[in-house]
Amino acid sequence: MSRVVVTGRIPETALEKLRAEHEVDAWEGPESIGREELLRRVAGADAVVSLLTERIDAELLDAAGPQLKVVANVAVGYDNIDVPACTERGVVATNTPGVLTEATADIALGLILSVTRRLGEGERLIRSGQAWKWGMFFLLGSSLQGKTLGVVGMGGIGQATARRAKAFGMEIVYQSRREIDPVLADEPGARRVELDELLATSDIVSLHCPYGPATHHLIGAEQLAAMKSSAYLINTARGPIVDEAALASALRDGQIAGAGLDVFENEPSVHPGLVELENVVLVPHLGSATVETRTAMAMLAADNTLAVLSDEQPPAPIN
Ligand code: DGY
Repeated sequence: MSRVVVTGRIPETALEKLRAEHEVDAWEGPESIGREELLRRVAGADAVVSLLTERIDAELLDAAGPQLKVVANVAVGYDNIDVPACTERGVVATNTPGVLTEATADIALGLILSVTRRLGEGERLIRSGQAWKWGMFFLLGSSLQGKTLGVVGMGGIGQATARRAKAFGMEIVYQSRREIDPVLADEPGARRVELDELLATSDIVSLHCPYGPATHHLIGAEQLAAMKSSAYLINTARGPIVDEAALASALRDGQIAGAGLDVFENEPSVHPGLVELENVVLVPHLGSATVETRTAMAMLAADNTLAVLSDEQPPAPIN
């Protein structure tokens, strides 16, 4: 039997799967586990099942000890993991690609609709108790039909978002470092372009690239200035891909029309300049937050863990 440390609450079915084969020490607290407690608990662990709120770095890997075989992140993004530090120590790192693709694309579309149709503003107005009545020019938004969606990062979630946008009558341009599904690339309206062209021509720019040094502040003051003044920015990827202070200024000054954000630069903090604006929809990192998706993510992390502990190839290795 191996010792598996789970750094936060995950669905019971995944815990049961792990418990059937191994000794499981799962943090059950309502708040995130504190760093000191985490470093204490991982000592002697053979596997760590981590949430994206926990930093898995050299300090933690050393605190765990040389017997550690696997770090299984319950997330597709793994910017919380120092992958080279895992590799140096012979620790397999894994993630949960695929199972949250559709849920995250749903949230991207939800944000697109919310910000272009001013749903947040309308909701706040009604809840404020202020008088309102239907009017020809009351809370007018912007239609999606015939507009262009610019997808930055055409991996699984970018493609799923593009498919949804096409169903709303949008044209698609995309920027991608990798070769992507030729079927999607060949479809009319799905055209590969450089980031500059994407920013200048899109009515909605939706971010779906991974976060890392290459994408830190990929969207800053200069990129926002390159967008149309009628355009919207959507971020369901990772907060630090966008320079939040620059975004707040661009929204305040009418450089772009609006933004829909599911992720933030310093979660759980949100830049105060964004909170005070009407033309931005803010939701608290809900991309994968459905019962079905979180269960699938935890089950995949459990499968990754069990495979490595049995000296088998895990379904979703990172290194
Ligand atoms: C992920 O898996 O990276 C998502 O951000 C979780 O919601």
